[in-house]
Amino acid sequence: MEKRRTSTVVNVLALLGALLVCKVTLSIVLGYRDYLPPDFNADFLLGRESYFWGRYSCAFYAHLVSGPLSLLVGTVLISEQFRSRFPTWHRRLGRLQVACVLLFLAPSGLWMAFYAISGAIAAAGLGTLAIATAACVALGWRAAVIRRFGDHRRWMQRAYVLLCSAVVIRIIGGLATVAQWDALWIYSISTWGSWLVPLLVFESVRWLELSPAAVTSEQRVMSEN
Ligand code: HEM
Repeated sequence: MEKRRTSTVVNVLALLGALLVCKVTLSIVLGYRDYLPPDFNADFLLGRESYFWGRYSCAFYAHLVSGPLSLLVGTVLISEQFRSRFPTWHRRLGRLQVACVLLFLAPSGLWMAFYAISGAIAAAGLGTLAIATAACVALGWRAAVIRRFGDHRRWMQRAYVLLCSAVVIRIIGGLATVAQWDALWIYSISTWGSWLVPLLVFESVRWLELSPAAVTSEQRVMSEN
């Protein structure tokens, strides 16, 4: 009974999380009005005209396509229900996701990180995020190929947490604007916090689930029922 209630709460939270990801992704894509064609008076492109044309624009437009795609495909792939009902589609979308992140999103993010307007802390935060995301996806892919599905699931869950940093950083940015905090300073901190904090929460929850105390109490509940 207790277990069923917990799983209902988890499912409702997962649904709300997925809706939030879709809503923020939609607002990101609506903002592409400023990028097609590039408007150098728009917030993000302000001051970037001198280096925009050339390699930066290739990375930028590759990022604009691969970012929302990998976040939305990741939201579908992370669902256990989808995987168990449509295993073939899980594999197909999984291959698309691996290609999208390893060939486009992570390399373009790494390239753009060198030009992060708020300085070295932001550049390092975004660059490390790009490498960490690529590493999790590559390790998750390898684990699936050698049929270590437990490891595959954990690496891909980590990769999804990292992809969601794009949502977290924008929520932090929105709150900072409302609170009228110094946007550049907040931005530098959130290029690290937007993925390190969720990753820490993810690892802590996993650790608690695996801890002997959790296993013992679960076994106790089961033996009582
Ligand atoms: C997890 C890997 C990711 C990395 C390493 C990354 C990296 C970056 C970097 C370095 C920039 C430029 C920031 C600056 O110059 O200050 C950027 C901008 C951008 N990123 Fe990402 N990103 C990632 C994921 C995503 C995702 C999942 C999306 C889409 C949902 C996304 C959408 C965008 C957009 C639209 C911009 C342009 C600025 C804007 O309109 O907000 N990125 N990203």
